[in-house]
Amino acid sequence: MIARRTLLKTGASFAALPLVPKSLQAAAPTAEVIEARLAQAQIAPEGYPLTQVWSFDGKLPGSEIRAPQGSRLTRTLVNALSAPTSVHWHGIRIDNAMDGVPGVTQSAVPPGETFLYDFDLPDAGTYWYHSHNQSYEQVARGLHGPLIVEEREGPDVDRDEILMLDDFRLDPETGQIAGFGNMHDFSHAGRIGNITITNGVFNKTLQARQNERLRLRLINVATARIFDLNVQGLAGWVVALDGMPLDTPRPLNESLLLAPAQRIDLIVDVTAEDGSAAHLVRIEGDEAFSQVLFEVRGVAATQPRGTPSPLPPNPDMVVAGLDGALQSHLQMDGGAMRGFASARMDDRKASFREAAENGQFWAFNGMVGMPEEPLFVAERGQTVRVTLQNDTMFPHAMHLHGHHFREVHPDGTLGPLRDTLLMFADEQREIAFVASNPGDWVFHCHMLAHAASGMMTRIKVLA
Ligand code: C2O
Ligand code: CU
Repeated sequence: MIARRTLLKTGASFAALPLVPKSLQAAAPTAEVIEARLAQAQIAPEGYPLTQVWSFDGKLPGSEIRAPQGSRLTRTLVNALSAPTSVHWHGIRIDNAMDGVPGVTQSAVPPGETFLYDFDLPDAGTYWYHSHNQSYEQVARGLHGPLIVEEREGPDVDRDEILMLDDFRLDPETGQIAGFGNMHDFSHAGRIGNITITNGVFNKTLQARQNERLRLRLINVATARIFDLNVQGLAGWVVALDGMPLDTPRPLNESLLLAPAQRIDLIVDVTAEDGSAAHLVRIEGDEAFSQVLFEVRGVAATQPRGTPSPLPPNPDMVVAGLDGALQSHLQMDGGAMRGFASARMDDRKASFREAAENGQFWAFNGMVGMPEEPLFVAERGQTVRVTLQNDTMFPHAMHLHGHHFREVHPDGTLGPLRDTLLMFADEQREIAFVASNPGDWVFHCHMLAHAASGMMTRIKVLA
């Protein structure tokens, strides 16, 4: 990576070079480009000004990437922004060097430079990619896109729709993204937007037919908002969470919480009549809004279909050996209204007030921000259990890189595979996973303002 950069820098006629530098073409002749750059998007309703966003490939969300399970994905990131950036492939059990975390797995890619991402896709499912540099700002400005890994044999559906749920905080006069220095966001629930969108637009509308069967891939790319969702005029099942299939499809009969970074795959039948409408409904308090409107025109079948079969499981996902597991604990403190008595920050002891003066508000195990030492070091293949204690006043969406885990319920049963766990205030939860993927993996809150103001640690899995 360093060598490539040097090559680029010393290349006498950079302007005359093709977009993908020769050195990279030689390494991976087929690498397509993913370009981080400015773009304009109609986020606010028609009639409001366009919003300048930071995008992948000029689109909001960024280009849809679809690839078959078991294939290799190669993309050359070209940074055409004026800030350094990187790409993290969220939820992929990826080769550590390709994980896209500046300061841990690579350096941030400076403006005008490139980085080759090249990795295997072991698991089918719904994933996404996003900037992992200054991510509380860069993801909120639009640096994210969907990554779909297709099953060798997909489910029996008529259509597959990706629905990326997001929010933006816009200045209503200018339509531009509001600034990022707000300490209230860091110390409270994160940066909640004032406009809620799907696939980059307000009032997303899709066409559908009565009794059509749809696979809906919901992805929450907002940096802080927890979506509380339901359906109307649709009936169906949850078939996967965070990309990973459920053993048995779960009937959709209550509302679903989708925390930042989480995904839910639904298989639904359109039960609304021809000429009417169906909705993905967003619930806020006792109000309900149409997050996605389905205009029902025509009839796909005279009857809905029966319960779908489960999606095929991904390989090597058994979490065994809980009894002899390595045990770890993550104590979560800080934030408005509770704070902490003191915590280590930059190698010194800091009071909550001193931390706050430096824009830091949260601590994991008494440490503000990325610690010198990992939370734990596991042997490759070792089973690990981590208890998480949220002693703050806020919910947090805890994301572990490079692995999926299962929740260990108090009665000893295991929950579904996930890569992001939503925890409410004062909850204690436990997760377990097999540390099968060597490397340094960050473990952080996906309310990204929290990650930037203290909620960040990492684990190490030996090779
Ligand atoms: Cu989706 Cu560390 O991120
Ligand atoms: Cu948090």
